[in-house]
Amino acid sequence: MRFGRHLRDEWLLDPDIIYLNHGTVGATPRRVLAAQRAVQDEIERQPSRFLLRELTSIIVGAWRPEHPRMREAATQVGAFVGARGDDLVFVDNATTGANGVLRSFPFEAGDELIVSNLGYGGVTLAARFATRERGAGLRTVTLSRPFSHAAIVAAFDEAVGPRTRMAIVDHISSETGIILPVAEIAARLKRRGVAVLVDGAHAPGQIPLDVPTLGVDWYVANLHKWAFVPRSSAFLWVTPERQASVHPAVISWGLDQGFTTEFDLVGTRDPSPFLAAPAALAFIEELGGLAAIHAYTHDLAWRGAHYLAQRWGTAFETPRALVGSMATVMLPASAGSTREHAASLRDALLFEDHIEVQVHASADRLHARVSAQVYNDMADYARVAEAVLARSS
Ligand SMILES: Cc1ncc(COP(=O)(O)O)c(C=O)c1O
Repeated sequence: MRFGRHLRDEWLLDPDIIYLNHGTVGATPRRVLAAQRAVQDEIERQPSRFLLRELTSIIVGAWRPEHPRMREAATQVGAFVGARGDDLVFVDNATTGANGVLRSFPFEAGDELIVSNLGYGGVTLAARFATRERGAGLRTVTLSRPFSHAAIVAAFDEAVGPRTRMAIVDHISSETGIILPVAEIAARLKRRGVAVLVDGAHAPGQIPLDVPTLGVDWYVANLHKWAFVPRSSAFLWVTPERQASVHPAVISWGLDQGFTTEFDLVGTRDPSPFLAAPAALAFIEELGGLAAIHAYTHDLAWRGAHYLAQRWGTAFETPRALVGSMATVMLPASAGSTREHAASLRDALLFEDHIEVQVHASADRLHARVSAQVYNDMADYARVAEAVLARSS
């Protein structure tokens, strides 16, 4: 498969915009949207039958399908991430999945939960809420540049105290785009009795995954970012020993009827994103498979990051093993330093230069987090490089 700009036609993306922000909310390919639409049409032919008799294992009436539709889709998503379908449930998004885990955990007064400074803000706030409700506390690990696997593993290990019960580890950090060595971190933490929740919001579809081998307790991840599944769709994988003790953030008819039953029905909602997941996975195969996609997007992210740093006179020092398909590059000092500078540059790039890219302020400098997707190529990086230079002089 030849990757690059011509693949844009597979998406509805505005052809006038250089889209370098796939990571933020994903972008769904046309054919996956068509598959989702077909599911919605099927639902609308007999809504009650579909939602009350075919979707989950909680049904009205005696007739029951062999495999509820949610379970069929979960089996396929499970195979994509190395897991059994019955160890995995769909949730609307990573935030919802993390909330379920956090609010189910029996924190006691004085317990501690470790988060990191690279953790996603919304999930860290959910952690604050869950712990403060029970009189427990948060401890924040500081991970700083230059990043290295050894330093990241050591930082989590050193943060463990006598009352540490759980740690949240982001698999791919939102702001920096770096891949954290979750298996190594989990091995250290588990040895010390600390349960590990991985926030893999950016991982499925960006990097190959074999979730059960990571040695973690819970793994939550978005499908709507890099796996081409329509919004809103995410999964929560739970190690079998913990499945009985985890509950969804929203409780409904399935309470205490088992892990998958409890999560599969959380009130009436549109299940079409989940049921369209197999079409998204089929599209990944048609593109040559995840390994081929990853090889292209990782190489583009890596080369693109070095190119941007060179054009902007800054340095890109992240080791290659920590780079997936997103890279965060420092802008020239003349681009500004504050959140306000970041917001106005981001707006100017979008509304005047027609480039969508994530720009943020960190440690008194601006940074761009650039996503590499199969529809991007080096010409997109050249455009953003020049646009930033023109606005920074
Ligand atoms: C690491 C991480 N966790 C969680 C989220 C939240 O994802 P969602 O809004 O789909 O729940 C994001 C979104 O960018 C993220 O980067």
